[in-house]
Amino acid sequence: MTVIDLRSDTVTKPSTAMRRAIAEAVVGDDVLDGDPTTRRLEQRVAELLGKEDALFFPSGTQANQTGIALQTRPGTELILEANAHLVHYELAGVAALSGAQIRPVATPDGLLTGELVRAALRPASPHVPRATAVAVENTHNAAGGKVMPPDVMAGIATVATQAGLALHLDGARLWNAAAATGVPLTRLAAGAGTVMVSFSKGLGCPAGSCLAFRAADRALAWEVRKRLGGGMRQSGILAAAALYALDHHLARLEEDHEHAKLFAERLSDCPAVRPSEPQTNIVMIDLVREHDTADAVLPKLAQAGVLLVPFGPRRLRAVTHLDVGRADVERAASVVRRVLG
Ligand SMILES: Cc1ncc(COP(=O)(O)O)c(C=O)c1O
Repeated sequence: MTVIDLRSDTVTKPSTAMRRAIAEAVVGDDVLDGDPTTRRLEQRVAELLGKEDALFFPSGTQANQTGIALQTRPGTELILEANAHLVHYELAGVAALSGAQIRPVATPDGLLTGELVRAALRPASPHVPRATAVAVENTHNAAGGKVMPPDVMAGIATVATQAGLALHLDGARLWNAAAATGVPLTRLAAGAGTVMVSFSKGLGCPAGSCLAFRAADRALAWEVRKRLGGGMRQSGILAAAALYALDHHLARLEEDHEHAKLFAERLSDCPAVRPSEPQTNIVMIDLVREHDTADAVLPKLAQAGVLLVPFGPRRLRAVTHLDVGRADVERAASVVRRVLG
C-alpha cells in the first residue's frame, strides 16, 4: 500500500531533475565573499516581488524573524492576526529575539483588515506600548490557505503608513495566492517593507526561503541572519533547487489547488465530516460527530494509508502538493469516507 501524505506541502522530495540542478550548481562561500547561484536567486526573488534586494535563508522561520527584527524595536508592539504563524509556531521568537510584544487581533476568518489594524492602535500615551509594525500572512495557513486579496493588503498598507508602522509580509505561500487570484506577486507584496517567501513548501525544494527588503536594509538583514546562525557557505546547492523550482514548479501550483477542491468535493456529502471550501492547497476537515476526535481518527486514517495532521481537537488539515496527483487525492477521499463511514 502506498501512503498518501497530505500532512503538509513540505513533505515533497526533490525530483531527479531538481537533484541534477543541485549537482550542477556553481558555488562559492556565501559568508566569505558570496555564492553566485545564491546571489542569482536573491536578485530574481527581489525582482519577482518588486523589492530592491533579498537574502537567502535556511528556513521561513528565520527569514520571518529577521524581517521582524528589521521592522520592530524592543519594547514595542507588533500587530498580528491572532492565528498567524508568527503567533503560534515560531516559539515566541518575536519576544525572545526582537524583544517586541505581539498584539494579536482576533478575526472571524483569519483575514486582518485595515479597519481592524486601525482599531488595534492604542492612543499615544506614555503608559502603553507603542506599535512599530504590522505583519500579515498570505496565504493564511491556520485559516486554511486563505488568500489576502490585494485591496485588503492595500488597506492595511495605507493604515500602516498613516500610523507610521512598518509592514512585514509572511508570504511562505504567496506563490499560491498569486496562482489562485492571477494577481502578480508584486501587487500582492506592495506596501510591505519586508517579504518572506518559501521554496520548501508548494515549490518542492528541500529547504530555503528568501526575505526581500529595501537595498538599505541588506547590511542589517545579513547581520541578523549571521547572529541567528543562518550564514550558509556553499548555499548555491540549495539556491539551485529554488531557481529550478521557480522555472518549473511555479506555473503548476494551480494543479494543487484543483486537487484540494476535488478532495473537498469528494467529502462534501460524507455525513461524518465538513470540509472547508479551499481557495488554495489547504483543506480543513471538521469532524461533525461528537464521538470523533482528531486523536482517535488520525491513527485509523494512517493505518488505511492516508496521513493528515490535527488542527484542533476535532479538526484535521490536508495539504495538496507536488508529490500527490489526482488519483491519490481521489483515493484519499474514499479512504476518509470508508474509515469514518
Ligand atoms: C505561513 C508560514 N510562515 C512561516 C513558516 C515557517 O517556515 P519554515 O518551516 O521553513 O521555518 C511556515 C511553515 O509552515 C508557514 O506556514
